[in-house]
Amino acid sequence: MVRIAISTAFIVAVIGMASALSVDQRAPTKGSVKKLSTVTSSKNIVARDNARLNHFKKSPVEELDTGSASVTNEIFSYIAEVTVGSQTFDLIVDTGSSNTWVGADTKFSAGSTGKSTGDSVSVSYGSGSFSGTEYTDTVSIGGSEATKQSIGVAKSSTGFDGVDGIVGFGPEELTEDTVSGVDEVPTFLQTLVSEGVISSNILGVSFAPLTGSEESATNGELTFGGVDDSAYTGDISYTDRVAPYWGVSVSKFAFGSTSLGSTTASGIVDTGTTLFYVPTAVYNKFLSAAGGKLDSSSGLVKFTTKPTSNFTFVIGGTTYTLTPSQYLIPTAQYSNWGISSSSGFYTFIGDGGSDSPNTILGQSFLEFYYSVYDTDNDRVGLAPAA
Ligand SMILES: *[C@@H]1O[C@H](CO)[C@@H](O)[C@H](O)[C@H]1NC(C)=O
Repeated sequence: MVRIAISTAFIVAVIGMASALSVDQRAPTKGSVKKLSTVTSSKNIVARDNARLNHFKKSPVEELDTGSASVTNEIFSYIAEVTVGSQTFDLIVDTGSSNTWVGADTKFSAGSTGKSTGDSVSVSYGSGSFSGTEYTDTVSIGGSEATKQSIGVAKSSTGFDGVDGIVGFGPEELTEDTVSGVDEVPTFLQTLVSEGVISSNILGVSFAPLTGSEESATNGELTFGGVDDSAYTGDISYTDRVAPYWGVSVSKFAFGSTSLGSTTASGIVDTGTTLFYVPTAVYNKFLSAAGGKLDSSSGLVKFTTKPTSNFTFVIGGTTYTLTPSQYLIPTAQYSNWGISSSSGFYTFIGDGGSDSPNTILGQSFLEFYYSVYDTDNDRVGLAPAA
């Protein structure tokens, strides 16, 4: 196995050789994503993320417990426009789950390409759930088309008002026991590979922060089958995946020169979480080092004096930095986040508890770091966003 960052030059070189070697190597394809916010209170973001975090802490086999008091229908997520048959759906881009399904808001109506498998499907997310029937249909994002994709069609769902479902980019093993009659169902990316649309099972994700208080903006991009070299700077650092999620081992949290403890945390890179969760011990030390307090009206950590030190941590020997202007929510976005007060400074760094996983690298972190989900090499990559 050659461990190198796939660069455009490398891909072009491989394509150049393809005809001579008769290797069917295809260039990566792309789709754009937009961020959608329908929140009225940051407390609902926190409630939703907490419910999802608690779900991650349960082993996948315990998931049948679907009751959750914290379901909120307010959405703060990255959405891809996904075509299924002749319909188009707004689906949450989720690397923390792996089933792809539609029908939460816009109802699915099978056209000539849609065929029911007769199997039932049911998935719980902590912050919501759905159940219905599994179909196969033509599914495409930004022109990348899988003709026989397994998809769930919701008969009922909770927690997904304003969106139509999820496109799951998590590891295939998370689909285990979600569909009756089969062990696992292939993800969208796996189908693109098996149908020869792309040659590598690799997803690159680029998210960008919103600049103002807009409710929705196209500010991200997915790359299927490789990475987009224009979306990051420097090299991509890879680390082995810790199963069953896109898990990473995180250590050496610090605030400026102050160590926030020597914990090695178990983390997940998750596009379906908004906040950046750190272990309780790290969180508590961060609050005292930075002078922050949990604010009951927003559900977020609030500072009365603006912190000036960087927040850093290490994954696989590489140090990742969030500067104050990155970990503090911009004032221009307070209404977008549902923060009602105009005074003080707020951060998206939250308390991830102590049980594994206790660190979630969610959207707020991923808006500053390009992320790569490399199934072929069972590894996760990160690089500073361009
Ligand atoms: C914080 O991080 C930024 C970006 O890596 C760096 O340029 C800056 O010097 C750091 N600040 C301090 C006080 O270390």
